[in-house]
Amino acid sequence: MTNAIQSLLTAEQCAFYQENGFVQVDNVLNEQELIELRQYMEEVMIEDSGALSLQTDKKGGSYYRVLNQRVNVWRDHGGMHKYSFNPRFAQMALELTGASGIRLFHDHALWKMPGDSKPTPWHQDYPYWPMTEQGAMSIWIALDDVDESNGCMMFVPKSQNAGKLNHIDLANPQDLFEFVKGTDYENAKPVKVPLKAGSCTFHNGLTFHYAHSNVTDKPRRALAIIYMPDGTTFSGKKHAITMDLNVQENQPLAGRMFPLLASRA
Ligand code: SIN
Ligand code: NI
Repeated sequence: MTNAIQSLLTAEQCAFYQENGFVQVDNVLNEQELIELRQYMEEVMIEDSGALSLQTDKKGGSYYRVLNQRVNVWRDHGGMHKYSFNPRFAQMALELTGASGIRLFHDHALWKMPGDSKPTPWHQDYPYWPMTEQGAMSIWIALDDVDESNGCMMFVPKSQNAGKLNHIDLANPQDLFEFVKGTDYENAKPVKVPLKAGSCTFHNGLTFHYAHSNVTDKPRRALAIIYMPDGTTFSGKKHAITMDLNVQENQPLAGRMFPLLASRA
């Protein structure tokens, strides 16, 4: 755990995040870390690595992929633990959200494979999460250069203010914008965020976002880490992360599976 002593982000970056619901932060990994993290990710993505795999790619017998995903890889690979528990990333989350403490909800290896012909559809993350309070957010770290040819992200600025909408089935998506018909969000202009490998975005769990399909011949590798403000409580909603844990409704998501990674002194 780290105490927030010296700021890692500028006041402008924090203000941008607060206003728009996302922010780009460049070079959060140096070249050495990038090489190491790619190696760990390769190891954990091997099919029989034991990591919990989420299916978003099978629908009604026809087979297509949106993403190849693994969650809580920190539990399966000590090297991934080093990155998912990274105090610098958590401190940035602390600074952006203004929370008194930041806990890990889960990490998420998100690969768009070369054959993954579907974009990640427009959605909000928060509706999937079993949390009563809003405020959780993600860092999304690119391990490859990303642009619209291999799955870079897009965000709708200020859409975190739309509040919680219905969750979207990633394999059989509804149009998120249908839910906000007649509001400013319906025709809001999304912002495309190409990134260099080792750079990242943070986004609020309510911010509308999307990732392009991957039409290149290489995987698009990304690590997302989901953070929640200390004190966030379990809503009781069914979720892969909490399913096998002894968590009680209305009780804080805390303890060794949801460690405190950063806090204010
Ligand atoms: C993706 O990596 O394609 C999507 C990430 C997200 O939805 O947060
Ligand atoms: Ni998402």
